[in-house]
Amino acid sequence: MKLPGLIDVHTHLRVPGGEHKEDFATGTAAALAGGFTLILAMPNTTPPLVTAEVLQATRQQAQQTILCDVGLVAGASPEQLDSLPAVAAQAVALKIYLNETFGPLRVEDLATLLTCFQTWPRSKIIAMHAEGPNVAVGLGLAAAYQRPVHFCHVSRKAEIELIAAAKKQGLPVTCEVTPHHLFMTGPDTERIGSLADMRPKLATQADVDTLWSHLNTTIDCIATDHAPHTLAEKHSPNPPPGVPGLETALPLMLTAVREGRLTLERLIDLMHTNPRRIFNLPEQPNTYLEVDPEVRYTISNDELQTKCGWTPFDGVTVIGRVQRVVLRGQTAYDAGQPDISCRILVKPGSGRVIP
Ligand code: NCD
Ligand code: ZN
Repeated sequence: MKLPGLIDVHTHLRVPGGEHKEDFATGTAAALAGGFTLILAMPNTTPPLVTAEVLQATRQQAQQTILCDVGLVAGASPEQLDSLPAVAAQAVALKIYLNETFGPLRVEDLATLLTCFQTWPRSKIIAMHAEGPNVAVGLGLAAAYQRPVHFCHVSRKAEIELIAAAKKQGLPVTCEVTPHHLFMTGPDTERIGSLADMRPKLATQADVDTLWSHLNTTIDCIATDHAPHTLAEKHSPNPPPGVPGLETALPLMLTAVREGRLTLERLIDLMHTNPRRIFNLPEQPNTYLEVDPEVRYTISNDELQTKCGWTPFDGVTVIGRVQRVVLRGQTAYDAGQPDISCRILVKPGSGRVIP
């Protein structure tokens, strides 16, 4: 079965400053193994992607090391508002963090939000980490400035219902949901402890059921929020929030297709067509994956390309596997190789930086 190259609009590649967790080569290898050929890297790095200088240096580094295509997402910072125009030229989108998460990027004052909405180019979307009542803040800004806002990793019933109501009124808003918020609930934290800790936190069964009921309507994208941290960090007294997801998203969603929870056409909308349209991303010619939708296998920490080497879905049985990934006519990933280190067939630097 052939699928278009998947697009993940929410990945943490940890460059610069967090290369012990993930780097451009390992993160894009994980992307290819998961069927993604274009991913958007988040700005909560060290230093964060908030100045033209950091963005430029990071783009240069990416160009030498990436295996699939990568776009950088700039971060909003109250101290760097003057940089926004120069930053915009090098980024595909602006990310505004309204809620607490990993790293110090945060916007807590209204004046900064207004400046972002007034100065960020209208051709590039503003994405928001907004939880609870902050969803209403994002909707108010989208309405006041009549410009698109994309809500990251929506996880709760009230949030998705508010976004659905706003869409009904014609507000130009879109949203993404992660596989972990569709396939795990709060009690998983009792099972695997801090390995199930992320932002937004896992929610209740009622939240998860409501997300599924909006999968064919309100939800625009499945995004991984691939947020690798080392096992030592996750098992430390003060574990950072976040879980890897690039290599498990498609098999989990294919399993849901198999179980009749969504159609394959809808999966393609959620993981390719809508991400490309919403983030205004270029087409990748002659790029596709071959998937075996019949193979049943158990996800294992031993079979991962991500540098962090673990997944909260270790031990979960899925149906549907990526066999081969072709990027611009070249086989970039071949699952047929017995040794996982031989499955990546392209050289560092063969991916393209966007824009
Ligand atoms: C992310 C990370 O580790 O960078 N963590 C998380 O729990 N999702 C940050 C984020 O996306 O909020
Ligand atoms: Zn994230």
